[in-house]
Amino acid sequence: MNFKKSTLNFLVIFLLSATNLTVAQQVKTFTIKLNDLKAEIQPTMWGVFFEDINMGADGGIYAELIKNRSFEFAAPLMGWTIKRKQFTEGDVQVLSRKEISSANPRYIQVTVSNAIKGSLSLTNEGFRGMGIKNGLRYDFSMMYRLNSNGVRLHLELVNTKGEVIGEGLLSPDATGNKWKKQSVSFIATATDPKAKLNIWFEGNGVIDLDMISLFPGDTWKNRPGGFRADMVQMLADMNPGFIRFPGGCIVEGRELATRYQWKKTIGPVEERQLIVNRWNTEFIHRPTPDYFQTFGLGFFEYFQLAEDIGAAPLPILNCGMACQFNTAEFVSLDGIGPYVQDALDLIEFANADAGTKWGRIRADMGHPKPFNLTMMGVGNENWGPQYVERLKIFTKAIKEKHPEIKLIYSCGTDPDGERFDDLNRELRKMNADIIDEHYYRRPEWFMQNAARYDNYPRKASKIFAGEYAAQSDKTVSPNNKNNLLTALSEAAFMTGLERNADVVSMASYAPLFAHVDGWQWTPDLIWVDNLRTYGTPNYYVQKLFSVYKGTHVVPFLSNNRPVTGQDGLFGTACIDNKTNELIVKFVNTSDQQQAVNYKIEGSGKLPRKALITVLTSDRPDQENSLDAPLTISPKDQEVDVKNKEIKFSVKPYSFNVVRVKM
Ligand code: AHR
Repeated sequence: MNFKKSTLNFLVIFLLSATNLTVAQQVKTFTIKLNDLKAEIQPTMWGVFFEDINMGADGGIYAELIKNRSFEFAAPLMGWTIKRKQFTEGDVQVLSRKEISSANPRYIQVTVSNAIKGSLSLTNEGFRGMGIKNGLRYDFSMMYRLNSNGVRLHLELVNTKGEVIGEGLLSPDATGNKWKKQSVSFIATATDPKAKLNIWFEGNGVIDLDMISLFPGDTWKNRPGGFRADMVQMLADMNPGFIRFPGGCIVEGRELATRYQWKKTIGPVEERQLIVNRWNTEFIHRPTPDYFQTFGLGFFEYFQLAEDIGAAPLPILNCGMACQFNTAEFVSLDGIGPYVQDALDLIEFANADAGTKWGRIRADMGHPKPFNLTMMGVGNENWGPQYVERLKIFTKAIKEKHPEIKLIYSCGTDPDGERFDDLNRELRKMNADIIDEHYYRRPEWFMQNAARYDNYPRKASKIFAGEYAAQSDKTVSPNNKNNLLTALSEAAFMTGLERNADVVSMASYAPLFAHVDGWQWTPDLIWVDNLRTYGTPNYYVQKLFSVYKGTHVVPFLSNNRPVTGQDGLFGTACIDNKTNELIVKFVNTSDQQQAVNYKIEGSGKLPRKALITVLTSDRPDQENSLDAPLTISPKDQEVDVKNKEIKFSVKPYSFNVVRVKM
């Protein structure tokens, strides 16, 4: 290397860093005006978006361990393997009783002759294996029909080494021509993230099997056939104001036949008709041929989940249009009646008493009290005049009968462009209650748009930031990462949502869950494998905003201006009149440490200490992982409050939540 050149380079770098240091060392002053209450922050402000994408429901939160339990996948034995000592034609047959059960027609018939261990067995591989925990109870059940006694089913959980780590035995009684359910529970003797279940047959007889099911004993609230408790806990910890369900594109379906139809997702699980998951084939680069929707997590369970975690339920319904990127199949306007009726009936299902048809069904499912539905979305990422004309039909019918229900209209797929502008104009002409905007954009966009809502109309329609996530690469790229930088850019943008809480009434990151071995779309808020979960830095941003939501925005100003990116800094302040706290959310997206001073005006005597929760790391591209889940996670520290001022040093690349009692 040329010495002179390198010395010069060094000098330039030194001078540049010295200048940066000087800039960084200048104390930046921010004024907080406690007496100037601005917008009221809605209890619904920060929520969660749930969609069965990335194995979020089947293979995810829905704790069923058997894949293709009812043999209704396109390939009836997908997920199952048959082992036999000697091949006998027709010993395992897939049969159908379509005339009796159109929702769940297929079952298998196993003919067992003088069988002993090793003669004939079925193995289910689970969803990328089965997560099994040492010492935990597992509940096996099946629907069966047996003509005479004499068949025994041996159940074996087998770990990755082929060792048996849990055993059960069923000796079903003959049922004649009737279907019956039989169950057995057993305890696992070891932990394995990718176990399998073997069922081997003993004896003689012909047995029909369907709905072969295995659940862990530690489901959320110990509900049989319930949810993975660790995944629900991650949601509950966020204290979400609402839960949007069931999506997302899944609402639309690739074609109308595979749209989400809530009525087919309630009642006994064995009567819920399985359909293909639209994410099964969506991305050629991430095919998931074994992805189907069993609807074990159906609309009743969604409402129940919302209630469990204290979130307002927000169902999104199909508006009579399938995904416009896929088939763009639309129902004709004279055929739209059943779609609208679905919306009206859903309100009855959620809110009416047990004297009504749909209220009765809810009560019979175990929830006599209403679910308090107050809002509903019509359409997901739909656009064009075809959407608007369908929306008008829905609106008229729903508002006539239920003026109390707030309707959410989609503003398409993007936060700008012709489609967005056209829709925005039309929806506002319709006096939309709430408009659902989506942004999947690069981190820079999020930072540059922190003031997006500062000049939005204040009195008209409210905004639901219904789906957003910063894309470190580009939308739908499998290379997108949930790193610190994307999280900070979202936090920066969210300060703008909070500052404009009089316009923005709700917001949710999307998608929510992803299985490390079964995802189609990244980035995602929470990642899981069969036994573990971890929150991304983006999760902690969402959680901190939501947990420290506050009740009223107050001005947070630098030189009398909102803090929307000056020197890479973003900030908002609010008070919480329930906890009597001032809460400041402050994002430093720069690589420089920043000395700041918050001057608090309009307060009485303040305590001597404030609490700061900091989310940061050395590198903006740093991520969390299953093995290091807390690398980027909130850490608390104290800071002095003197003369109504809070002075402290803000770390580079950090999100800071400062709280002080008022
Ligand atoms: O969140 C993933 C997908 O992104 C949603 O299903 C869809 O609404 C959006 O395009």
